[in-house]
Amino acid sequence: MATTRTAQKVLTRSELRARLEKLPRVRLGHLPTPLDEAPRLSEALGGPRILIKRDDATGMAFGGNKVRHYEFEMGHVRDLGYDALVNIMDYHSNNARLTGAAANRTGLKYVLILKNSSGRAVQGNRLIDKLLGAEIHDLDAKASKKATEYARAVGDRLRKEGYNPYLLQDHEFPKIAGTIAYLDGGLELAQQLDDLGIKKNVHIFGVAGRSTAGLVLASKNLGLGWKVTGVRVTYDITMQDYLYDVVGGAVREMKLPVGFEPDDMEVLEDYVGEGYGIMTEQVAEAIHLFAGKEALFVDPNYTGTVAAALVDQIRKGRVGKGETVVFLHTGGLPAIFTFADELAGWRGA
Ligand SMILES: Cc1ncc(COP(=O)(O)O)c(C=O)c1O
Repeated sequence: MATTRTAQKVLTRSELRARLEKLPRVRLGHLPTPLDEAPRLSEALGGPRILIKRDDATGMAFGGNKVRHYEFEMGHVRDLGYDALVNIMDYHSNNARLTGAAANRTGLKYVLILKNSSGRAVQGNRLIDKLLGAEIHDLDAKASKKATEYARAVGDRLRKEGYNPYLLQDHEFPKIAGTIAYLDGGLELAQQLDDLGIKKNVHIFGVAGRSTAGLVLASKNLGLGWKVTGVRVTYDITMQDYLYDVVGGAVREMKLPVGFEPDDMEVLEDYVGEGYGIMTEQVAEAIHLFAGKEALFVDPNYTGTVAAALVDQIRKGRVGKGETVVFLHTGGLPAIFTFADELAGWRGA
């Protein structure tokens, strides 16, 4: 069972805050986000106390974790003098939406190369991308395989037009910004837990990704002793490539005394189902349960998968009654509209 390895403090909160304050930053989000109690959900599961860290409520363009990420990302890009962003994402991507929102708020041109999007309904994130006014290039499945070359050509065109484009795919910072941003999120959460008088047995559930890794690092460096469980949502990319290889970049950038090790986060592998973007029965049930008990929405791809895992782990008795669960709600909500037919047709597990 993974726990944060050390509850020994190696950085004070003000030292970590001072390091974060040195980074260029653009304020985009409504922060701090609430830490809400979920008593009816907890009661329905016969489980422990459950708190929801409401990063679905970060504000900009339907919210989510990437609003935090982009505060640092846009500061970085703007400081380097770029004036256009070129992004390659899948048609239902939250990143595609929030990059566009951050570009608009910072006054940058935004070109979005959307994979597997030809012929798709203009719904969910794809609708928001359009409303944000992104220059969208819809690629079919075949063209999507060459999206990187496509983006390079777009970059060349933009340069001829006088722009200084930033191709997100070519840089490290977009990969590490999320972990850095959640060091800040970790400081915020630590204060909120203090305010509630919660000092121990904190168990965080989030997507097995870069934001959750930021909470791990905050916990290890500040000696908070949080236990962190990450839930995998895709097998399309290995944990090594997605997380373990990049998180060291955030540690280096922030000169953290203590780094990340894979077993700092227990990774639950069993909730992906047939694959990323295919909603499972468990996720559909969790979406209904969260909405029915707490009027809280989770999405079919990310937070719904974490919700399904949390429900299952509690039912199986794998979350101690003495623990306080913090569910890191990273947003993704426009995707429920992309899955409207499946969700509306769902008749119960
Ligand atoms: C809603 C949502 N939650 C979590 C994640 C995981 O992101 P990260 O690895 O940056 O924490 C994503 C990624 O796109 C997302 O859209």
